[in-house]
Amino acid sequence: MPTKLFLQNARVVDPQSGLDEVLDLIICHGRIVALGQDLKPKDPTESSSGAAPCEYYDLAGQVIMPGLFDMHVHLREPGYEYKGDIASESKAALKGGFTDILAMPNTSPACDNGEVVKFVIDKAAEVAPIRVHVCGALTKGEQGEALAEMGDMFASGACAFSDDGRGVQDAGQMRRAMDYARQFGCPVLSHCQDEGLAGVGQVNEGACSTLLGLAGWPAAAEEIQIGRDIALCRLTGEALHVQHVSSAHGLALVGAAKAEGLPVTCEVTPHHLFLCEEDIDKTYPTNLKVNPPLRTRADMEALQEALCSGQIDCIATDHAPHAQHEKQMEFELAPFGTTGLETALSLLYTELIEPGRLSWASLVNHYAVRPRQILGQAPLRIAEGEPANLTVFNPRPTWTVSRTDFVSKASNSAFLGRQLKGQVSQVFVDGQWRLRDGLPCA
Ligand code: DOR
Repeated sequence: MPTKLFLQNARVVDPQSGLDEVLDLIICHGRIVALGQDLKPKDPTESSSGAAPCEYYDLAGQVIMPGLFDMHVHLREPGYEYKGDIASESKAALKGGFTDILAMPNTSPACDNGEVVKFVIDKAAEVAPIRVHVCGALTKGEQGEALAEMGDMFASGACAFSDDGRGVQDAGQMRRAMDYARQFGCPVLSHCQDEGLAGVGQVNEGACSTLLGLAGWPAAAEEIQIGRDIALCRLTGEALHVQHVSSAHGLALVGAAKAEGLPVTCEVTPHHLFLCEEDIDKTYPTNLKVNPPLRTRADMEALQEALCSGQIDCIATDHAPHAQHEKQMEFELAPFGTTGLETALSLLYTELIEPGRLSWASLVNHYAVRPRQILGQAPLRIAEGEPANLTVFNPRPTWTVSRTDFVSKASNSAFLGRQLKGQVSQVFVDGQWRLRDGLPCA
């Protein structure tokens, strides 16, 4: 990194300070030292004298935003390294434009004690090009029976708790978990799923399950637990974050809780925003087998509308890498999940931003500002004096999602073959240029 880096002519977007204009930005010693129009070195001979080398980098037509934070990522390590590991999936996150991710606890062993939290944090410090935050389990082994060692995990650095991949079935147990998490000021991230009702469901219950001859999974299996957890939020006062909301009714429940003033937030995934049950055709595409399942077209449209109107707090991928041999199975035998980190921002740009339905400022709010607020992390701002944590998006390239392009160890993307516009071009983490022209820096 030269002493001074001049990023020139980029559209700088940061809704935290109402910023959305074409500016130059100077990074020096890891910090943003100047932000303004037509910035020049103070001493015009500076760059040629050799005393303070400058690098100029033209970003005309590109968008600079605060580093994005994906608060729902499966890294698979420890235990399932054949699917993905901390190094491979954090590099996939870098390519997708994320400076921060939150690792889910459904590993083997599950992240249900301080040792595993420490392992993930230490390994990430060694191998990850971005910051990895850790979500601990609510219950031991995510079995829903005994509380996990939440105090120990918090002391070791966990910033949220979830049994993601499963819903906590017993309301009393969930209540105790919420009471306990509240003491640490950490939110509970709820994977809402009533197992009795979801049963062996493979796809949304309705036309899709009937036509394909697959067991149905009704949206009610999710909505029942959303309703229950909102009631527990009212009872305990604990901050509740509903993960991957997939139906219009689920959204309405969250909306009503917000209107009541309860500390309830929610996220939506790109696959629930841009795919629906109708996309699952007679080829039985296992990459579209996700939990919760893709719902109806009306649900998908309601999710898009809710995101664009600000009723949904954040976007999160639920990046779920699986090995090719696992997805090349009969639909019923394949695991649930799609990768998402490397396609999320281009999908959002292609489907919502370019058509004028979502502003860049809202995108930054949903994908950089709100996740940090929900997880109690310090905000990242684009302002003089702040550390340079930046994501840069180039809207010009067009590309087709292809199995061979992924940095992730896995290629089980639900969007293979989709034509997309725009790509992440640069990422800076604490002033370090980590992704340059779409490629990781050594
Ligand atoms: O589709 C999913 N896959 N949803 C989840 O909640 C878990 C995830 C996984 O771990 O594979």
